[in-house]
Amino acid sequence: MTVLRKEPLITELEIKVRLGQMVLDLARDLRGKELTVIGILRGSFMFTADLVRLLYINDIHPLIDFIFVTSYVGTESSGEMRLLRDMSLDVKGRWVLIVDDILDTGRTLLFAKNYIQERGAEQIHTCVLLDKPSRRIVPIQADYVGFSIEDVFVVGYGLDHNGKYRDLPYLGVLKEG
Ligand code: XMP
Repeated sequence: MTVLRKEPLITELEIKVRLGQMVLDLARDLRGKELTVIGILRGSFMFTADLVRLLYINDIHPLIDFIFVTSYVGTESSGEMRLLRDMSLDVKGRWVLIVDDILDTGRTLLFAKNYIQERGAEQIHTCVLLDKPSRRIVPIQADYVGFSIEDVFVVGYGLDHNGKYRDLPYLGVLKEG
């Protein structure tokens, strides 16, 4: 059985501070562009929501949509990508910022990037809250990374384990217990 470790891996305050820094980089690169933010469901819903509120403060007002891509069963990647829900917006000719919760093997982000490229986006930038570089299987890096972490299974702030813990305002780690 897995239980949530008491101490956060990354606190709510640390997330807030880091997002403030990331948005300065995003604003420098993306202000003035015809921007569409595409969040990858379900894990990125909280991160995307916080990010776009900070973009607003920086005078960036993107269109916002989501795609639902999955490859995961439990804590293991099946390797097979599926688009469970398409975006509604047309991204042709737009600058797109793809937002995901965590970059692990890289399959999800690569799949999403290729998919949005095929839909005719003019420029694609990628932004992830967490990066586990040691787990990478396909060659992809995100343009903006919140935190680079070790290979531990993380929950909270949108990330789940079997659907649980998405509601935590901080990032925690599961342990056997
Ligand atoms: P890939 O392997 O495609 O993975 O880069 C990205 C997706 O895998 C899920 N994932 C996790 N979810 N805690 C989670 O709750 C984790 O530590 C974790 N590692 C990978 C996640 O859905 C992400 O979008």
